[in-house]
Amino acid sequence: MDSAVSTPLTARRGSPLQGRVRVPGDKSISHRALILGALTVGETTVTGLLEGDDVMHTAEAMRALGAKIERTGEGASGEKIWRIHGVGVGGFAQPAAALDFGNSGTGVRLALGAVAGSPVTATFDGDASLRKRPMRRVLDPLERMGARVLDAAEGGRLPLTLQGARDPIPIVYEPPVSSAQLKSAVLLAGLAAPGETTVIEAEATRDHTEKLLKHFGAKIVSKPSGEHGRRITLQGQPELEPARVAVPADPSSAAFPIAAALIVPGSEVILEAVMTNPLRTGLLTTLREMGATLEELEKRDDGGEEVADLQVRAGALKGVDVPASRAPSMIDEYPILAVIASFAEGATRLRGLQELRVKESDRLAATADMLRVNGVEVAIEGDDLIVQGKGRPLGGGDVTTHMDHRIAMAALVMGLASENPVRIDDSGFIATSFPGFVDLMRSLGADLT
Ligand code: S3P
Repeated sequence: MDSAVSTPLTARRGSPLQGRVRVPGDKSISHRALILGALTVGETTVTGLLEGDDVMHTAEAMRALGAKIERTGEGASGEKIWRIHGVGVGGFAQPAAALDFGNSGTGVRLALGAVAGSPVTATFDGDASLRKRPMRRVLDPLERMGARVLDAAEGGRLPLTLQGARDPIPIVYEPPVSSAQLKSAVLLAGLAAPGETTVIEAEATRDHTEKLLKHFGAKIVSKPSGEHGRRITLQGQPELEPARVAVPADPSSAAFPIAAALIVPGSEVILEAVMTNPLRTGLLTTLREMGATLEELEKRDDGGEEVADLQVRAGALKGVDVPASRAPSMIDEYPILAVIASFAEGATRLRGLQELRVKESDRLAATADMLRVNGVEVAIEGDDLIVQGKGRPLGGGDVTTHMDHRIAMAALVMGLASENPVRIDDSGFIATSFPGFVDLMRSLGADLT
């Protein structure tokens, strides 16, 4: 995206939000579908793909590595179909130029894993936000698997050049942080290694890579490990089989209209076909504890994932204490949860947010600042964020979004219910994960100008 031109936006309090909407496809599954399709010989088709900037950068990178990817016509129910003709495990071609992942940590970390198992050398780069984010955590296990970092910015950051392994080595790996990206990078590199690659997670993180690998015919087993963890074992060098992937609606995007419906008095909104994979629904658990009226209608299976229509009604909320063990299942939802907490009665304590410091921005600081400039009493104690809810915040703030889509959307949702309007400096990055956000919110009755 063109970060040189900022597009400010203002959200104002208005009438209740009403309607039935479907948010775009899940970002995590979209990246993975493209990468696994690129590692598969034959035609993989994907419907419901998120056509956001982050995922489009991954598609471009997979093309540069030799996959053929096209967006064709309309499917039976009118949706776009993405067709991928991949190169096979370990079969990437030498890219002609640096791979640009824009704003996307998921895209670059997963692609590093996939490239680590091919005998090619590739340079990975991204925008100013992505260049600040830690890559060492992914490079460490990939180097153990035989990949070599030929060049990198300070601390192993982007831009960096990785030489994939000619003969990748399978490893047993215990990630030092809870991260689905890290787990996925190791599993994707493990595809090209002979024998078993094992990842032992202390806290289970989103399992889309595991589910999709199985869907593409790989042998992968995931078992409980410890109190909250998983032990995942992948049999390397499978012949991946082309698959059809239906991407369900992204719960992390649904979080924004859900929040708006809860805090704008009199609202009632239905979010269609939202993925309810239990490793992604920490926000729904927390909102119920806060007293939210949330109903899951028509629970069903869509493309191997659980989905439901979520009915949300505005109502009184109370402050809660959110345990650190819940963080992996709602890691992207803290900025919007902090906004919701500022409309509740009483204090909300969000525990164990250290990983928020290394997201698209330092999200812990950016979330606290967003609330503070809108008159909310907020504190950071260690890795916890404490929000004092007083029913309705004053608003009136100018929010700096720091190239972070989720800070931008959270601040706008706040302005739909705060006493005074909330303005953000730049709405451009919203398109990384939620193209059409502004139109979708306006269709519900939101005042965004
Ligand atoms: C993602 C994992 C999470 C999340 C990100 C998407 C994924 O990051 O924040 O938006 O698709 O694997 P971490 O793995 O760094 O926690």
